[in-house]
Amino acid sequence: MAERIEVLLSEEEVDKRIQELGDQISKDYAGRQVHLVCVLKGGSFFMCELAKRITVPVSIDFMSVSSYGGDTKSSGVVKIVKDLDEPLGNKNVIVVEDIVDSGRTLSYLLEMLKDRGPADVKLCTLLDKPDRRVVDVRVDYTGFRIPDEFVVGYGLDYDQKYRNLPYVGVVKFD
Ligand code: IMP
Ligand code: MG
Repeated sequence: MAERIEVLLSEEEVDKRIQELGDQISKDYAGRQVHLVCVLKGGSFFMCELAKRITVPVSIDFMSVSSYGGDTKSSGVVKIVKDLDEPLGNKNVIVVEDIVDSGRTLSYLLEMLKDRGPADVKLCTLLDKPDRRVVDVRVDYTGFRIPDEFVVGYGLDYDQKYRNLPYVGVVKFD
């Protein structure tokens, strides 16, 4: 089936918003260091752009998770495919995600990271689809709240495609 991508958030809009988030984080963490934890693969494009705009000292780490299929998926249990390289003890952690949808992945992940002794854990997501939320998750920094549509670009994929689009688009099937 042919699909086409309709622009939802232009490159300029996304860039501008990431700058605002970077400014806000730099202000909130003045005098401290932030440790950005990127959830692969989707969060990687956003995290790199965000990190460049933060003016306090930044360190980064990556983790990759996948949902268990079938019944366990609804319980929100996620499998760690790649764990962090560094311990989180006493760090000011900001988890950087592409999108919060049902909230299952993040609520599980945040609880797990909090058990590792960080000073603080916050969540920053480029996109939020609040209409789809099943599990309550506290989002500290949100790029954009978007309607319940399947989006791609800026790290988000459809069947592993379109992650490299410099804008956020909606997938349309004609
Ligand atoms: P959650 O546990 O339902 O919040 O799952 C979030 C994950 O689902 C994201 O990190 C994405 O990988 C994926 N996802 C959710 N919505 C979309 C979308 O619109 N486009 C692409 N991936 C999505
Ligand atoms: Mg993701």
